Amino acid sequence: MSTHERRPMVAGNWKMHGTRALARELVEGIMSALESSPADVEILLCPPYVLIPQVVAQVAAAPCAIGVGAQDTDASDEGAFTGAVSAPMLADQGCSHVIVGHSERRHVYGESDETVAAKFEAVRRAGMTPILCVGETLEQREAGDTAGVVLSQVDAVLRDAGAAAFADALIAYEPVWAIGTGRVAEPSQAQEVHELLRRHVRDRDPRAGAALRILYGGSVKPGNAARLFALPDVDGGLIGGASLDAPQFLEIVRAAQGAHTGMAG
Ligand code: PGA
Repeated sequence: MSTHERRPMVAGNWKMHGTRALARELVEGIMSALESSPADVEILLCPPYVLIPQVVAQVAAAPCAIGVGAQDTDASDEGAFTGAVSAPMLADQGCSHVIVGHSERRHVYGESDETVAAKFEAVRRAGMTPILCVGETLEQREAGDTAGVVLSQVDAVLRDAGAAAFADALIAYEPVWAIGTGRVAEPSQAQEVHELLRRHVRDRDPRAGAALRILYGGSVKPGNAARLFALPDVDGGLIGGASLDAPQFLEIVRAAQGAHTGMAG
């Protein structure tokens, strides 16, 4: 299946940034630009939990569909888990997607592959779409372990959810050394891992492997997005820093649109 049959997604991961005022301005900036030329790209905004209701209300008035996602969830649906937020709560607030296994969750908060797999299942149980993040550290890349690391991160989820689940899920390949560093993967490095991930799922479930959208993340900016999105197995991006600036985020959306219609260079 060519990239043309998989609709690209550009997802903004705001991380722990934003106030109500900043969110209002940012979402207004994105929506007003899309009013004049709606993009044939799936756009997803992932604000911090507390801003989700406000952003959901704002995008309800958008000229084209803009989805709202969360950056994480608890693996349990409810219970005595002080400070936690569950997937059913996020669905109830209007979220369509949830990021699971972001490298900051794995490395700063010590989440294991098994925890991430349980969260992936919680998101599906609540009727939403998981975006599973995988990626190797610089040390792991330099030791030649990239394939082993990303495949074992995917395998933990495959064991619980099965390969068919990936027909309705996304993977985000985010090399840890490229996140927030300004150091972006070379197109050949990104394509190699994306192709590997797709083949891994396709070997277990051809339909899921063909439908699976794989986003690239890690220092995606207006200046490098078109090159990355034009790669055959890259279906858009998960954008951190540049998603906090409406003009930059919109330029990245346009780059995905160009890739989709075959105009990107
Ligand atoms: P970045 O973050 O674009 O700021 O590198 C990407 C991410 O962590 O999802």
